[in-house]
Amino acid sequence: MMNHQELVEEAFKAMKNAYAPYSRYHVGACVLCKDGKTFYGANIENASYPVGVCGERSAVFAAYSNGYRKDDIEALAIVSDGKTLGSPCGMCRQALSELLNQDTPIILSNGKETVETNIAELLPFQFGTDSLKK
Ligand code: THU
Repeated sequence: MMNHQELVEEAFKAMKNAYAPYSRYHVGACVLCKDGKTFYGANIENASYPVGVCGERSAVFAAYSNGYRKDDIEALAIVSDGKTLGSPCGMCRQALSELLNQDTPIILSNGKETVETNIAELLPFQFGTDSLKK
């Protein structure tokens, strides 16, 4: 099984596929599944700015699109090429709160600094499927 540092390296490979001609901020992500399978994502922008998608959502959606679900996911690495450590945007936190287990390791890196967290820490006081109950 790949370790977290190796997963970060895979996410940096995915970052090379980022399509970010507008922000020039590149994000790569890699989902590691418990069976060893990996799914990659990168941010993909659009001339109509809101149409673009973030790297981490792209990677987790790829895992789900291939039939994997939160209990199948071991860890997620998200990397970016900013001067400071990148951390998922609010929209990604909401998506990850439903698609990952609360304690699934999320490893953030910009190559200089690496931090391990999880969605419980990144998004407290969540709105989720239970919130829709009446
Ligand atoms: N971006 C991500 O891919 N993930 C984040 O969590 C932060 C922002 C992307 C979106 C856009 O393509 C670029 O980074 C600048 O916001």
